[in-house]
Amino acid sequence: MIEEIIKSVGTPTYVFDVHCLKARIKEIEDYFPKQILCYAMKANPFIVREIAEDIARFEVCSFGEYKILEDLKVDPSKIVLSGVWKKQSEIEYLFENNIEVGLFTVESKNQWKLLKELAQKYERPISILLRLTSGNQFGMTKEEIISIFKEESSWIHFRGIEYFSGTQKHNIKRIEKEMIEVSEFVSFLEKEESLSLEIEIGLGFPVYYFEGDEFEEDLFFKEVAQLLEHFKEHVVTLEIGRSLVASCGSYLTSVVDYKENKVGNFAILDGGIHHLVYYGSSMAMKIPHYEIFPKREGQNKNVNLCGSLCTINDILVKNVECPSLQIGDVVMFKNVGAYSMTEGISLFLSHDLPKVVFIKNKQIEVVRESIPTYVLNEPKIEGEK
Ligand SMILES: Cc1ncc(COP(=O)(O)O)c(C=O)c1O
Repeated sequence: MIEEIIKSVGTPTYVFDVHCLKARIKEIEDYFPKQILCYAMKANPFIVREIAEDIARFEVCSFGEYKILEDLKVDPSKIVLSGVWKKQSEIEYLFENNIEVGLFTVESKNQWKLLKELAQKYERPISILLRLTSGNQFGMTKEEIISIFKEESSWIHFRGIEYFSGTQKHNIKRIEKEMIEVSEFVSFLEKEESLSLEIEIGLGFPVYYFEGDEFEEDLFFKEVAQLLEHFKEHVVTLEIGRSLVASCGSYLTSVVDYKENKVGNFAILDGGIHHLVYYGSSMAMKIPHYEIFPKREGQNKNVNLCGSLCTINDILVKNVECPSLQIGDVVMFKNVGAYSMTEGISLFLSHDLPKVVFIKNKQIEVVRESIPTYVLNEPKIEGEK
């Protein structure tokens, strides 16, 4: 299939394998059968429609993310509308158009005030989660949350507490500590307010991207599942991004130039760090999982896999041992289904954005053509073309 994509679609291209994605969701569900899965769509907005039937909730953090779900006709009752800030007009759009978003999260007292006013103005009952801060600009303190619970609010249904403290977390003790803190607080609120509340929590499940990384995911997930058993008096929803979608994605980039000199061996690729970001790559010192097409036999060489930006930092892998590369060869970087394609500095140097392809039902579907970015980097001058 990859050879076919290289031939018929070309590079640079992201490839998302829908079958692999659905299998991954099923795998995670099997570890966490008692929890609800919420997909944090910031990890990869492209694939939301493909999994709309497989996922109970979608965490949406901006109006842009919301519009993607609206355009793709994803059921709004699955939406958990979060985010540290959205314009008042954007929130009001949802009320004016009677869009029945499943849950709103509240990150500040000002957001609370706005939601309360809009619910009142449009006479629309809404359900909310209050976000507990993990000690940063997100969410509210316990005191702030308690004071909100004390307010009169006939249009508001308090559903529970949301909590997220960071990504790539593999320390079970830390996860346990956070779970205890959140569930104790929820139990306290339940007692004070005679309510039953749920917990929505992002545990930041890790993805191990690099050769030599050692991580036993099976053991880790079993430990987390066992831990969650202690909190079964509450409905727990797991907000997951990275771990759910990283493995379904690959990035294809071609060797477009090659040079060997006394400084080193350099393969120049038609992509680069503007298209591809690996969390924790340590300035390309670490080697991500990759494959080269076509397969080449023969003597290996140490090569720097460089992108096509004008910066010495544009190296995807430094000094990696690989078979002799030739112009036209394609490097396929793996595990790029989460964040990799949106975190790059995609406007730098005005290169085109890569194409996006789904592999679906054993077919190739181009879901985005390459997009020029130069138009975003030039002023529009009145009267001139
Ligand atoms: C509130 C919230 N929930 C969930 C996630 C997803 O985290 P991860 O991709 O580590 O699973 C994020 C990521 O930033 C987040 O901000």
